[in-house]
Amino acid sequence: MVKAVVLGAAGGIGQPLSLLLKANPLVTELGLYDIVNTPGVAADLSHISTPAKKALTNADIVVIPAGVPRKPGMTRDDLFKINAGIVKGLATGIATTAPKAFVLVISNPVNSTVPIVAEVFKKFGVFDPKRLFGVTTLDVVRASTFVAEILGDLSLSKSVAVPVVGGHSGVTIVPLLSQSSHPLPSSLSQDKYEALVKRVQFGGDEVVKAKDGAGSATLSMAYAGAEFAAKIIRAVNGEKGIADATGSSALASELGEKLPYFSSNVELGREGVVKVHPLGKITEAEQTLVKAAIPELTKNIETGVNFVAEAY
Ligand code: NAI
Repeated sequence: MVKAVVLGAAGGIGQPLSLLLKANPLVTELGLYDIVNTPGVAADLSHISTPAKKALTNADIVVIPAGVPRKPGMTRDDLFKINAGIVKGLATGIATTAPKAFVLVISNPVNSTVPIVAEVFKKFGVFDPKRLFGVTTLDVVRASTFVAEILGDLSLSKSVAVPVVGGHSGVTIVPLLSQSSHPLPSSLSQDKYEALVKRVQFGGDEVVKAKDGAGSATLSMAYAGAEFAAKIIRAVNGEKGIADATGSSALASELGEKLPYFSSNVELGREGVVKVHPLGKITEAEQTLVKAAIPELTKNIETGVNFVAEAY
């Protein structure tokens, strides 16, 4: 018995994500909440339509794709002003109604919205880093697809596994291509390697540009969110040792106290994250990428923490 709840269910991500969760046989109840059109989506999916608090009651897993998406020329940080308040409000609802739920934050800027949820939970005394996740899975999905493209065989995209660590914007996204399950051709030039890294880091911009003002990734995000949620749902359902939960964790990493949030490959169990995998052996180029990610990620985390500190 697993109850999943989507906050922001009527949006570009929320609708297909709700559909995919509805199609997951392990989800026995689905709660939907949005500030607009929830009954329409709920009726469409033949699901319940209730106000947030009621929708959240007894939730095992809550996914949050609520908030505004990017338009061309915007960075994820430009969304902070609007989305920070939305996420803070929703986090308060979760803290008071479903404090034991696994929380998956999709709303951008993820690097700052995850600390916002954590800080709100701390205020309510319900923070459990093992259960809070920033959803960076789309970066993993993109990395797998782009590597399969380079290998010249798109049928591999499902089986290619590339760890992507760090955060979820620009230089904070660090693909560890040297650890790809399917190694890159040794003949790949330095230029092509760098272009691949850039494409993983800025893949979201391709979609924002192509949509030309109509938003950012929704379908690929719904797919990625449902993939990650499915792993969490299996863990909630009692399955042990689910590995490589596609790179998302709010748990402190080996990088220490300075970076309390750093997405890493993790192992999941019923209680949440049971193990954070270390970065492992990485190349010099990847060490440089990690070094470049840290100052930006640190700044983003502080922005989220300060937002909540100033609000109370
Ligand atoms: P959208 O505008 O289509 O949908 C957002 C939905 O949130 C709307 O239906 C809106 O009514 C709802 N909403 C706003 N305030 C709310 C509140 N207080 N409570 C409940 N619902 C509320 O946007 P879209 O394209 O679905 O994107 C949603 C978010 O996901 C954006 O912040 C976007 O940047 C982010 N995103 C994250 C990705 C990731 O990899 N983590 C990838 C792509 C987008």
